[in-house]
Order: sequence, then structure tokens, then C-alpha cells
Amino acid sequence: MPVTAAAGLVGTGGSAWAVGREEVVAALRTTADGNYDGSDLWLRYMPVSDPGLLRKYRESVTTVIVENADRNKVYRHSTNLSMAPGSTERLVETTLAAARDELVRGLGGLLDQAVPVKTSPGDRIPDGAVIVGTRDSSSAVRQYTSADDLAPVGDDGYLIRSFSRGTQRFTVIAGNTEAGALYGTFAFLRRLQTHKPITRLDISESPRVKNRHLNNWETVRLYAGNNASGTGGLSGENGTIFNFAATGASAGRNLPVILDRYIVVARAMASVGINGITINLVNADNVYLTAQYIAQEAALADALRPYGIKIALSINYTAPTDPRFAPDTLTNEQLDPHGDEFRGWWNRRARMLRDSIPDFTGFTVKANSEGQPGPQDFGDDHGDGANAIAAAVAPLGMKIYWRTFVYNADVDEDRLKRAYLEFGYIDDERRPDGTRGRFLDNVFLQTKNGPLDFQAREPVHPMFGRMENTNQALELQVTQEYTGQDEMLCYLAPMWEEVLKTDTYATDERGRLLGKRLMGHIVDGTAQRHSDTAIVGVANLGNADNVTGHHFSQANLFAFGRQSWDWTLDSADIAADWVRMTWSNREHVVGTIVKMMMGSWEALVSYQTPLGIAHQFRSSDHYGPNPAERLARDDWSPVYYNKADSVGLGYDRSPTGSDFTAQYFPTLEARYGNIGTVPENLLMWFHHVSWDHRMRSGRIFWDELVYRYQMGVQYVTWMRLTWDSLQPSLDARRFSEVKAKLAIHEADAGDWRDTCVNYWKEFSGRDNPVDDGPLSIKIVVNGRTIGGFDLSASSYTIPVAAGASPKITKVKPADRAARYEILSQADDVPGQAIVRVTKEDFFGPIVKNYVFIMEHDTVL
Ligand code: GCU
Repeated sequence: MPVTAAAGLVGTGGSAWAVGREEVVAALRTTADGNYDGSDLWLRYMPVSDPGLLRKYRESVTTVIVENADRNKVYRHSTNLSMAPGSTERLVETTLAAARDELVRGLGGLLDQAVPVKTSPGDRIPDGAVIVGTRDSSSAVRQYTSADDLAPVGDDGYLIRSFSRGTQRFTVIAGNTEAGALYGTFAFLRRLQTHKPITRLDISESPRVKNRHLNNWETVRLYAGNNASGTGGLSGENGTIFNFAATGASAGRNLPVILDRYIVVARAMASVGINGITINLVNADNVYLTAQYIAQEAALADALRPYGIKIALSINYTAPTDPRFAPDTLTNEQLDPHGDEFRGWWNRRARMLRDSIPDFTGFTVKANSEGQPGPQDFGDDHGDGANAIAAAVAPLGMKIYWRTFVYNADVDEDRLKRAYLEFGYIDDERRPDGTRGRFLDNVFLQTKNGPLDFQAREPVHPMFGRMENTNQALELQVTQEYTGQDEMLCYLAPMWEEVLKTDTYATDERGRLLGKRLMGHIVDGTAQRHSDTAIVGVANLGNADNVTGHHFSQANLFAFGRQSWDWTLDSADIAADWVRMTWSNREHVVGTIVKMMMGSWEALVSYQTPLGIAHQFRSSDHYGPNPAERLARDDWSPVYYNKADSVGLGYDRSPTGSDFTAQYFPTLEARYGNIGTVPENLLMWFHHVSWDHRMRSGRIFWDELVYRYQMGVQYVTWMRLTWDSLQPSLDARRFSEVKAKLAIHEADAGDWRDTCVNYWKEFSGRDNPVDDGPLSIKIVVNGRTIGGFDLSASSYTIPVAAGASPKITKVKPADRAARYEILSQADDVPGQAIVRVTKEDFFGPIVKNYVFIMEHDTVL
């Protein structure tokens, strides 16, 4: 753990103390040596490189004042809580201590000099003081922020204000709670990290959504930083972030021992406002409810608590029958959700958890989904099941996150329709008191953003807006299961922005359009006046040095936090912050990397599943393509989704097909149901499109489809070339690790293109289109115009008559917006020439290096 290690050392004793400058400088040297591994995520705190700015910052920040930092000690169940031997992070006991330490570490690194900490403002607030606290903890905060000022920011919000009193200038970071003050601290540090002004501040921030949680699927789908090999993680670990049962060399590093990476992740989560984590897989193992595991969970919760992070567990509906809980077990007959036995069991288990983890938040439940047991197995419905467990834990202040990821072919042939069919009527149900909706108040229905399963682009789930009487949590997938895992650079924030800003056209009971009806409004409760709100991200945490595997996957975690705090944010702005905090503040680096990130998702959609085709993944790993795959279950099979035939491609969900479109509000129903009005990027989600259907580009569908696959790949080529150009500006190790991944990325994107297009060809009976794609060219050699270059090919053979010049004398791009450059000519035959063609397409720059092999023509 580089900078953070030394700079984070916190001494106590005396009213003021400081971290030694030598320690900070030494730590900075190790990070600057090119071997930095990414382990500090976006909390690296490199010195501000612009001397003028550095001077200004040093003037504005001279002292940190945190009063009573040690007063509100958080609950500790594990009395001997300790870091693993040799750790560089440290455990803190209060949230204000976490804030104080972060300022010491952050400012020490950014300002390249130690910043003293005072525990009281003294007679006169020093010039350049940064004061952090609540009105309760800090006399200075009390003096400079009134209760009325703070009231609007609520529990988690904060104020950051600059003051000027005579010659004294200082900054106050204040929250109503210590967590709010911590969030404000990170926001203040972010300003320095991103080289923004830190004077004349009058910032008032509060999250739009209350529960901003991660779900950590620990044992399967380790798409993120899974480092089981021992190259970066520890031997015997299974690749997950938290060690419960590691073996071999890592056996001594299981919880309750706390590892550096837990604290790094806690700080990172807090820095973007994430305030909860369900630590285990949704296909839950009951072991997490055993006394031994609860003791380990308690230690983890103790370590995370100062950062405002609360833990929860995924549970299995039939856990009470598990013999591991003997003698406290139930029989199947006792699993009646209306009966006392079932409820009593859950209440007992929840109390055990509460006794060790007083702020334990509750349970995530995957029931009657993909083979997991649930109430339907016993003749009950989701409302019965969710309410039973919810009622059992309500007295303990806990909540149930009941997932709606269900599909049952008996309910409807079209998998996309099933969730609403299973849940919608429960929400509509009229209660004896005249109100509607059977789900209890402490139940959230946790619904994926789209109706299928985290595909790279999905229409929004029709349940959003339709469940007026139920709390709904939006579930996003931060880990890149279907979006390139830890091999592909895919920045997901633009997708989440698209989702959150989609107009649902939700109406009220009388059919009038709601004023606020974007997905974000539904999720943040303002559309339909829900008071409890949640966004959940399936996490991409692992045991790799850089936590997420791909360095750029860190950006998805960062963005998830930022967007769940404020879904109105612009994904490009978030990317820019992350790049500045993680890589560099040099403008050309920021601009270039942000550009790479911003097109990366749309490019992935294009080379994997363009124009609304979905789920063409091979079932073994959800990474590569297998459009021909037919599995035991229809609705797990790529062929079920593509419906390829001689007529065309895509799933008809319009009124002439499955009529899934009817689940949307009328405006979207009409728009999606009509092939003339459906957005083309969702085309095959809703229609079986004939191969010669005319697209808005003027091309026929087949041609457009093939070009889309090709353009996606050419974007990756652009990213690879562009990344290479950044080498002088980036640290060596991370540069080369990303470079290596981009090479894999480009090859695997090409595999997607070729596998899918070749398979579709069997049905379309057509060849790849040539000569009128965005990057198509013709060349003139020896007076002959030659074209017909298939963009999927890696090189082209050009016959040259004996004695004739092999030089390319002219290049004619098909698209007038395309630019070309002859990178090299062939001097002789045989020889090679390279022409680079570039164009700005709708998702960013695309580039194709045409490699021409000039050969003697034996026929001419
Ligand atoms: C996907 C994923 C599973 C996961 C499931 C879910 O299908 O592949 O591993 O369990 O989603 O969300 O429950």
C-alpha cells in the first residue's frame, strides 16, 4: 500500500500532532517509481503537480481541526479486533477519526508536506484551518453553521463552506452526523485531487437515495479481481475480497483478522457514499448464519463501521431446515410463512446477528429463482414469503431486499414477462384498510435495471413505476459479468446514466403522466412519494492487488457510488474525476482517457450484441460468444433469444408476438411495439427483424448489423493505439498491464464479431457488406481502383502486374467524414503497405489499419 501507508500513520498524544514529512516523501517515492500496482484505487493522493496550484492549496490548508474525534466510539463486538501482522492500514474507532486520518493522509500526499492536526480551535481559528465535525462534536462547527443551515442536508449530507474573518480564512466541513462529516471530508479531498478551487466554497450536498449498497457475490462469478493463483492475492484464498475460510498459507489471515484491503475498500466505499454491503452470494450458503461465521462477520462489521458501512447477508429461504443449525431446525412442514415457527426462527437468527452486529441491516433474498427455494415451493407467493421474514425482523429494525429476478416458464413463455406477472398483482392488492399493496414497509423489491439479466444494453425493467405501493430497489451490476469481465475496458457509467435518465412515461391512477417519471425519479422516490429508497450494485471486489482486476474496473465502482448518491450526474464528469484521482491531472491524459472510457460501453454493445440482440454468451463463462448454443432450458439458450431464421433475427415481443410491450406504460408500449418507432438500439429486443428491413442509415438491416459488429471492434483498435500514445505520461506497471489487457480485448472483440456474423450468415445467406461502411475505402494502384475490402479481415492481397509500381496512388474513403493516412508504401513486390482510416462515429473514434500485401499477379 504505497502513499497511504506512511502518510496514514497517525500519532496521538498532545493536542496537536503530525505525520513526519520524511515518511510522506518516502512513501511518495515508492509510488512514483513506476511499480505502483493500483492498490489505493482512487485514493492515491499524489502531490499536486502544478506548482502554482500547489502553492495556493498550501496557503488555504495549513491545519486540520477535529474536535472530540475520539468521543463517539463505534460499537465493537470483537474486543481483540486486529489488523494482520505487517498491515499498513489501521483500525479506527470513530467516524471522525476516519475523517481526520483521511485528511492527514490525503493532504499530506497532495500538498507534499505534513499538515498538523489540532484537537481544538484554540482562541483564534488559524488561517488555513480545515475544520471537520458536527454541531455536536465541534465548537467551531457550532459557531459557523446553524442547525437551520444543516437541516436540509439530512443524515448523510454535508456542508463545505469557506469563511473569511479578518485576516483568517478557513474551511468548515460539517454534517448532521459523523458520517455526513466523513462524506464531506472525502468531497473536499476530491476537490484537491481533481485540481478544483477550494476557496469561496458554499457546497451543500445530500444523497438522493438513502440506501446505497453493494451486493458482493463472493464465491462464484468472480469476474473482478479474482486472484486465486497466488500471483497477487494470497495462496489459499478463493479470490474473494473477504477471507472467511482461506486455507494453506492464508489460513491465519481469515476473519476476524482484518486485512489492509478491507480498510482500503471501506475508505473507497465511504469516499463515494456507499453505506452498506451484503457480503455473500445471492445463491446463499447457510454457513453465513452459523455462530462461527457470525463472529467473523461481526469483526468485519466492526472494521467497516467507522466508515459508515453496515453489513447484511444473503439468505436461503429454507435455511431453517439446515441441520447445521441443530437443534434449532424446522421441518419442511413448519416453513409456513404465516406460522409462528417460521417467523420465530428468523427472528431468533436475526437477534443473534443483532447481538453481535447491532446495526446489521437485514437480508437479501433470492427465492424461487434459478433453483433457489422459495415460498412457491410450498404453495405460497412472494408476498407471503417476503412478508413473513420481514415481519420477523421488523422489530429489530431490519429490512428485506427480496429480489425479483424470477423466471418460470409455466407463468409465461417469454422470460421477460414473468417478474411483473409474479409481483405486480401483490402490489395492486387492495388491503382491508382500503390501501393497496401487500408488501410490508420493510420490504424492498430488488429489481435489475432491465428485464433479462444485466445485458450490456437492455430496455428498462417495466416494473419500475408499476409498483406504486412497494419499495423498490434498483439493482445494477458493477462487476462485468456480461461486459467483458476483467479483460475488457468497459466503463459502465454511461449505461447507468442511460438507464437512470430513461423516461418511463409513468402515469397516475387516472392515466395522467407523472411530472417526475424518469427512472431516477422512480428510484429516488420522488415520482411516487416513496420514503425509503435504495440502489444496489453487484460488486466487483476481489483479492487482486488493484482490487478489481482490470485497472479500469475501479472506475465502475467509483461511478456506481457517485451515481447512487446523485443519479443526475454526468457520466463523463465522473470519469474525469476518476481519471484525475487515479491516473493523472495532465489535461491531455484526462481528455484522452475520458474519451476512451466514454465510448467503451457503446463499442462493447456494438461488437457483442448490437441493435438489441441479447444474451449471445456461451453459458460456460458468460465472456465469449456462442449464438448457436441450445441448453436444457430454453430461456438460458442464446438461440431462444436470437430466434435466427431465414427471415431475420430478434425476438418479437410486440403485440404480434409475446406482447411483453404491454407491460410498459402506454407511451413506451406504443413506441417499443412498433418497428417504425422503436429505438434502433433496442430493435431486436422487441422485433423479429427481416434481413432486408430498411434502417435509418438507409442500409438494409443485414448490412447495418455487420457494420455495427465491425465498428465496435475498430473502436477497441482505436483504444489500443491511443493507450500506447499515453505511455510517456503514465506509470510503467499500470500502463503495461492495461496495454496487455487491451490486446486481449481487441482479439476477443474480433472473436465476438466473427463468431456472431458467421453464425447469422447461415440464416441470412448473405456475405459481409463491403465498400459502404464508415471505414470502407477503395485504393488506386497502378491506375486500377480496387475495393471490396471486408472490414473483418486483417489483411488484403493486392495483385500487382509484373513491372508495375505497387504504390497506392489514391485512397477513396466511402464516408466523407472518414480521414486516411498512408502509413507505409510497398517499395517492391512482394511488399506491404498500410493505410490508416479514422472516423468519429456515434460512440467515438474508430480506426482501421488496412494492411495490403502487394503480390505479383500471375493472371493479369
Ligand atoms: C446471473 C448470474 C448468476 C446470478 C444471477 C442472479 O444469472 O449469472 O450467477 O446468480 O444472475 O442475479 O441471481
